Formats: sequence, structure tokens, C-alpha cells
Amino acid sequence: MSRSKLKLDNSQKEFERAVELIPGGVLGIRRPYNFVPGEYPIFFDRAEGGKVWDVDGNEYVDYLCAYGPIINGHQIPEIDDAVVEQIKTKGFCFSLTQTYQNELAEKMNELVPCAEMSLFVTTGSDATSTAVRLARAYTQRLKVMRCGYHGWHDWCVEVKGGVPEKLYEDVYEFHYNKLNELEALLQEHGDDTAAIIVTPYGHPTALPMMDPAPGFLEGIRELANKYKTVLIFDEIRTGFRVTMGGAQKYYGVTPDVAVFGKALANGYPIGAISGKAEIMKMGESEVFISSTFFPNSLSYVAALANLEYMEKNNVIDVIWEKGRYFMGEIQRLIEKYPSVGARLSGIPPMHYITFDKEPTGNYKKKRKDFFTEVIRGGVFLQPYHHGYICFKHTQEDLERSIRVIEETMEYIAAKDYE
Ligand SMILES: Cc1ncc(COP(=O)(O)O)c(C=O)c1O
Repeated sequence: MSRSKLKLDNSQKEFERAVELIPGGVLGIRRPYNFVPGEYPIFFDRAEGGKVWDVDGNEYVDYLCAYGPIINGHQIPEIDDAVVEQIKTKGFCFSLTQTYQNELAEKMNELVPCAEMSLFVTTGSDATSTAVRLARAYTQRLKVMRCGYHGWHDWCVEVKGGVPEKLYEDVYEFHYNKLNELEALLQEHGDDTAAIIVTPYGHPTALPMMDPAPGFLEGIRELANKYKTVLIFDEIRTGFRVTMGGAQKYYGVTPDVAVFGKALANGYPIGAISGKAEIMKMGESEVFISSTFFPNSLSYVAALANLEYMEKNNVIDVIWEKGRYFMGEIQRLIEKYPSVGARLSGIPPMHYITFDKEPTGNYKKKRKDFFTEVIRGGVFLQPYHHGYICFKHTQEDLERSIRVIEETMEYIAAKDYE
């Protein structure tokens, strides 16, 4: 039996207000059409641990984790108290730099295989764009080979409105696990290629996630060496989530430069570029890297407290264990109800339930029913984005979610879609 629809009046009311004030009401992937319109909340009010509450008071187990920053959970006293202490006792926005940047850069050197020097910025998009600029300065070349989502800046944004073609015409895309595509591009443009930027784990937008095929990452490394181009790993999602040293540590392939963001500070805005000193040193004078807010120490303090918390609590191992259990149970259900047509992909820290295309188009109806039922059951997953496990997800959160997913699959399996 279908679950009853959630009361979402306050979300709807606030959205009607928002569309008059903010273009589109809310931004990007958070827009209602990226969920099931009319079934999902549009505004959250508060969050704690692995749970969130919307503006109508509905409670959910949060598997989106703010699209990645929430690695430990919402409202972690050890992290938030460090930030509040900073605000109350010292301040955080000065004309000169506070010394936390040095500590954080040392920590990056200790944790991240490719790190010899680091730069800190505010967002993931700042970080990917800075890395590309450093690579262009270092190689004195123009072209960039890219694979994955790298943010909203001119050189890589996927929606091209408002962006002159000349700003991205030297950027070429290849697909994850298609080493031959990259090889063909480099055969043609290798001598002009400044950088290859790739997510070390495959998480293409709205598609099943992909493990690297044997030899894929190693092959990219070899091609980068052969063409003397800078290899950048975009670890914005995988950094401080797959291991404390990113996916590069897990897969044993070291890039020249890597970029981080999201989980580095458990929700406080920060981006990091870490890499070989000779490339990073382009930031001394060749490349201009400055913004009013880049040196604000709040996020550095948060990042330091976050990393300390993660190490002390063995967070990565716990997340893998929870994720393994969660994915194991979902896979069991997928096999129990094959007519639902769901597919599970990912690795324990980041999972994704998708629906394989089938000619009748019924997969769209099943997908809609699936995400409608799970959100009604208080499980916050998104149809077009993978989920995450955080440290504070409790066994009860996981079991409650698995129960809701099981009931949902049972409902879909029994429903007539013809
Ligand atoms: C792999 C990857 N790179 C870059 C970015 C851009 O980061 P931000 O949204 O913080 O600008 C994202 C954001 O989702 C991302 O997932």
C-alpha cells in the first residue's frame, strides 16, 4: 500500500515567496524538479547527527549530507565549538592572515600523498579553477582534458548560457573508464595540453557510479607522464571520505595536484589545492590567487577540528562499515525484488540507487514511485544524485531506512505498470 503524502504546506508557501525573490526560487540541484515535485520538501529547518527536519516539521534520515560536506554529521560539538570559540575569543576576518593556514597545509602534507604545498580557497569550483590555472602557467600550454563535474566556473560549467565559447573551447571531455578517448585526444592535442583533470572515482551526473576499471587510473598517470601534462585529481567528493588521503591513497595512483572541498571541514566552506611544490609555486607570482574571504580562518579552524575528530574517532573505518552494511542490505532487496529494476552502485561511503532504462519507459514510473515512497517514509535520497553515509548515521537510522526501502520495493513489485 502506498504511504500517505507528507504535509509540505510551509515548503510550498516559502517556495512561492522565493520564486518572486530569487531566480528559480532555490539554486541548481536543489530545485524541486530534481526530486519528485510536490512530494519532497523544498526547505529544511534544522539538522542534527544524521537527521534533518524540514520547515513543516517532517523528519528524515539524511543521505544527501548537504551534497557531501557533512562527513561526520550535523552539529558536531567538537567542530562547532572550535569555530564559536574562534568567533568569540579571537575573530576570524582580518587584513592579515592568521597562522591556521600553516597548520592545515602541514596536515595536508601528512595525509595526502601528492601534497607538498597547498593553497586554500572557499569552494570546490575555486579549487578546480585554481588548479587548472596553475597547470596552464606551469606548462605554458592551453588545453585541458576533463572528466567529471568540476563546478560552475566558465571553463567547465555544463550549462553554457552566458559563457563565451572562447572560454571553454580549449577544454575537451572524455568519459570515465574510457582511456582510449583520452589517448585519442592526447594524440591530437598532447603537446598543447596543460592538464588532465579527472575524478578518481567515477560519479557521472545522474548515472550509476563507476569503480575505476583495472589500469584506468594508472593509464591516465602514464599518459600524463608521456605528454608532460599536469595530472589533477578532482577529489572534491572523494577527499576525506574514501580515505583520509583521498581516493589517490585508496587506489595507489598519485596525481601531480589534487583538489578538495566538501568533507574537509564538515560543512564550513573551504576548498584546497595540494600538489607538487614546483607546480604549486606558480602561485608565488605567476598566478594571482586572492579573494577577500580566502584567508578567513573560520573554515581553517573547522577543518583542523574536523580532521582531528575524524582521526580520533576512526571515522573513515566506521563509515565504510556502516556503508557496507547499508549497501549489502539494499543489494539483498534489489535481488529479492528484481521486477523493480533498481540498481545499486558505488562504494560504501557513497552509494546510488538508479533505475535501468527499459523500452516501455516504465522505469521512470518506478523511479518516481520509489523516491515518492521513500521520502514519504522519511528517507532523504535523491533520484538524480548519489547518497552518502556519515559517521553519525545510527544503526537505527540505517535499519529504519532499509525497512522503508523494503516496503517500497514490495509495493512497486506488486503494482501493475502495464
Ligand atoms: C567532483 C566535484 N568537483 C567540483 C565541485 C564544485 O564544488 P563547489 O560546488 O563547492 O563549487 C563539485 C561539487 O559538487 C564536485 O562534486
